[in-house]
Amino acid sequence: MAAAGVGTRGAQARQQLELKFHAAFQSGKSMTYTVAWCVPCLASFDTLQELCRKEKLTCKSIGITKRNLNNFEVEYLCNYKVEKDMEYYLVKWKGWPESTNTWEPLENLKCPLLLKQFFNDQRVYLTKMKQGKVITLKNNVKILRPALAKYIVKKAKQRIALQRWQEELNRKKNHDGMIFVENTVDLEGPPIDFYYINEYKPAPGINLVSEATVGCVCTDCFFEKCCPAEAGVHLAYNKNNQIKIQPGTPIYECNSQCQCGPDCPNRIVQKGTQYSLCIFRTSNNCGWGVKTLEKIKRMSFVMEYVGEVITSEEAERRGQLYDDKGITYLFDLDYESDEFTVDAARYGNVSHFVNHSCDPNLQVFNVFIDNLDTRLPRIALFSTRTIKAGEELTFDYQMKGSGDLSSESIDLSPAKKRVRTVCKCGSVSCRGYLN
Ligand SMILES: C[S@@+](CC[C@H](N)C(=O)[O-])C[C@H]1O[C@@H](n2cnc3c(N)ncnc32)[C@H](O)[C@@H]1O
Ligand SMILES: [Zn+2]
Ligand SMILES: [Zn+2]
Ligand SMILES: [Zn+2]
Ligand SMILES: [Zn+2]
Repeated sequence: MAAAGVGTRGAQARQQLELKFHAAFQSGKSMTYTVAWCVPCLASFDTLQELCRKEKLTCKSIGITKRNLNNFEVEYLCNYKVEKDMEYYLVKWKGWPESTNTWEPLENLKCPLLLKQFFNDQRVYLTKMKQGKVITLKNNVKILRPALAKYIVKKAKQRIALQRWQEELNRKKNHDGMIFVENTVDLEGPPIDFYYINEYKPAPGINLVSEATVGCVCTDCFFEKCCPAEAGVHLAYNKNNQIKIQPGTPIYECNSQCQCGPDCPNRIVQKGTQYSLCIFRTSNNCGWGVKTLEKIKRMSFVMEYVGEVITSEEAERRGQLYDDKGITYLFDLDYESDEFTVDAARYGNVSHFVNHSCDPNLQVFNVFIDNLDTRLPRIALFSTRTIKAGEELTFDYQMKGSGDLSSESIDLSPAKKRVRTVCKCGSVSCRGYLN
């Protein structure tokens, strides 16, 4: 049992217990299904922690470990005071409710990193607010200004919530690259209504073929007439796994029926993100963004764009309900038809957080692997140039799909035309608006 991500906002409501179980069904042949349910937990963290302590049970997700079941471990520092020339810190103990916080002299604290964080948070707050650090109470006790102490606790809780979310994302992702989460900008916690998925989530009635019916029998897919040739196009990659075809041209990768192994040079997108990425809070009011923590070579596969696959009529309906932000998660699959749209607003992967730029470093390609239905391509984002470690990843929201600005992808339907968002990409060639 593990508690899922908890936000600073509506923390209680987001506490979920994941129940995972295997159910074996006997239906002609024996099959095993793995089903995961997320059930909102009505008990608070404090209550769950208390129960665990009573039963002497450890549960890492709610912070009860072997170490702190019998010992006390500092979770974070909440306040500071000077009383009779003695310095004290108010300690929140890991796995214990806030009602059991205690004032401790410095010599009782063996948590240099938490102390550093405590001073850092104070510095950030005081630089911004330009106020005195402490106030003096009637009994001559000097204590942190209440607004400052409140900020420090909020920051500590946010850190814990973001750490939990990061763990949840890494538990759920099925690719090699790690996902990090960082907010050094404001007090925003994990998004409340976002669920991580690795692949398209088709709406009821939409059929995504998960296994091709034909594959290749090459001994070397790089040199032989392979799956792309079968589809009438060139192999998309060079020997260094870089994309060499023009935007707008489809990628046909080897599939589950092909005789080649996982190291075939025509299996790139299906291997998933290889780079460690970081969802970070932008400092120019664009909310969350994504940056790479490693250098990315030009023309390399970075990530897939996934979400719910819905019909265009449903997208039109949702577009009417969404605000300007929601609309930007709608990605029309307009490679050959305009029947379907990917909606990454509630269900998505890291691509949900990728911001727009009018001079982007990522480019969209349509990909076919096991599903060869041209109405339902997979969407892959490739680097357009070398991207340095630490650089934000962006793509052009107006080039979703066809890779050509003059396409109908900018001819927004009335639902999507309603609101125009001013672009803050800052590039020389900025067009002024996102959509
Ligand atoms: C697909 S989301 C990207 C992730 C988003 N920043 C978040 O916090 O979840 C698109 C939204 O991000 C913001 N955004 C993305 N790129 C932007 C840009 N270049 N200028 C201004 N806002 C941008 C807008 O609010 C937009 O509606
Ligand atoms: Zn082949
Ligand atoms: Zn093949
Ligand atoms: Zn192959
Ligand atoms: Zn721009």
